[in-house]
Amino acid sequence: MTVVLRQFAPYDLEGVLEIERVSFPDPWSPAMFMGEICRSDRIWLVAEQADGRVVGYGGVMIVGDEAHLMNLAVAPSARRCGVGQTLYDDLAIRAARAGARRLTLEVRDDNEAALGFYRAVGLAVEGVRSEYYQAGQDALIMWGDLPEAERRLPPPGREIVLAIETSCDETAAAVMRGGTEVLSSVVASQVDFHARFGGVVPEIASRKHTEAIVGVVAEALDRAGLTMGHVDALAVTHGPGLIGALVVGLAYTKGLAFATGLPLVGVNHLEGHIFANVLVDPDIEPPLIALVVSGGHTSLVHVRQWGVYETLGETLDDAAGEAFDKVAKVLGLGYPGGPILSRFAAEGDPNAIAFPRAMMRSGDYRFSLSGLKTAVINHIRHEREAGREIDVPDLAASFQAAIVDVQVAKTVRAAEEHGVKTVCLAGGVAANPSLRESLRSALAERGATLTVPEIGLCTDNAAMIAAAGTWRLRHGDLLGLDAEAVADLPLG
Ligand code: KG4
Ligand code: ZN
Repeated sequence: MTVVLRQFAPYDLEGVLEIERVSFPDPWSPAMFMGEICRSDRIWLVAEQADGRVVGYGGVMIVGDEAHLMNLAVAPSARRCGVGQTLYDDLAIRAARAGARRLTLEVRDDNEAALGFYRAVGLAVEGVRSEYYQAGQDALIMWGDLPEAERRLPPPGREIVLAIETSCDETAAAVMRGGTEVLSSVVASQVDFHARFGGVVPEIASRKHTEAIVGVVAEALDRAGLTMGHVDALAVTHGPGLIGALVVGLAYTKGLAFATGLPLVGVNHLEGHIFANVLVDPDIEPPLIALVVSGGHTSLVHVRQWGVYETLGETLDDAAGEAFDKVAKVLGLGYPGGPILSRFAAEGDPNAIAFPRAMMRSGDYRFSLSGLKTAVINHIRHEREAGREIDVPDLAASFQAAIVDVQVAKTVRAAEEHGVKTVCLAGGVAANPSLRESLRSALAERGATLTVPEIGLCTDNAAMIAAAGTWRLRHGDLLGLDAEAVADLPLG
């Protein structure tokens, strides 16, 4: 039977409980599963059939170099088809990558099927826990060696990760220790090469990444005071983004992984933007709402737990950053437009011109920005035709307010509807002072808090990729050397 293994998410609970109830005399409660699957020292997987039905699941706890198999079960309809074996093998490999060398578990002394299964995968009974389950019901303690991982990683908190990001027009590399300590972060911007075209030219982006990447990585290592020999793992953005740009970073990092034998982790660019918040506040924990606003994306994401993302709504047309860039281009102000317009906006009157707030009352989490862009362009044309000079600060402030109002309203509603008190801002447009402040005060009124990355970590950088990459590394979530870049890689 062909199954796909993936991270155990809250919405898998119903299917899992069904299997749990028919598999064990004292099944786990929903709360026990929920308490387990969000923990960062656990690895929980489900096996999904082609029709989307969950037919098995399992979880391990990692304690130093030991892994404890906490639960493993397969639906009766899928037993004796190799699903249990597939789940066990994957959990074992991931546990080994996360640093465990041996695996242990407890099994009822009368569960012949389970005992046979675990013996077959190489575990042996090494002890008995008397009356572990209930009176008269002993647990057998089994132990076995885990497969030799490609490379042993240092314990969480000490891993050195080199991350590379080339999804758009910045060639970036960063060195990070322990998932939060930025040892170096180098960003080589190509902005000057794209500026005269008023936007990113994909062909130029790929060529410039190729020219810059070797030097950028060397500089990141140099500034961190380290050499390749100190690095424990490599992380790279493998989507979404411009395909020709992504390919440069991915191919380079795969080559580095091949040459050094280091583990390779793939990071979703948007997940990276969200993780930039962890660098400001290492203690933020899901569930949280993230507003991801960049040159290519405008989405509201419900982060149920790290690694499990539910996109609540996206833009139907232009991204927020794209709207800033296009309006700045029409005004002849240069590229990228966001920082320039937000500086003008600070001097202008946000109520000077009444621009539309599209989809403000749509009742969902989708956005539309192309109508606003057209309204601004029409306004400019109208004023020019009438021979009037455009008041750039007023125009910028009014345009910015139209964007910010909708973003704030929808984000606040998403937090309220999902009962979430933590909100993160992510992506290049998160650098916008008006958006940061408006959202912060709207959330504070409702008792919710906003986290925003430092300005330098809002726009594209590799430190955020290293942070997300370290999290994935700890979950043994590696990319093969045959991995391909995916221009529209979905989040989660
Ligand atoms: O995340 P990012 O660096 O690249 C993408 O992944 O797209 O975002 C770049 C976008 C650009 O569109 C830029 O105009 C916008 O972020 N941006 C801003 C500000 N700073 C950058 N938009 C509004 N206000 C800003 N201060
Ligand atoms: Zn970005």
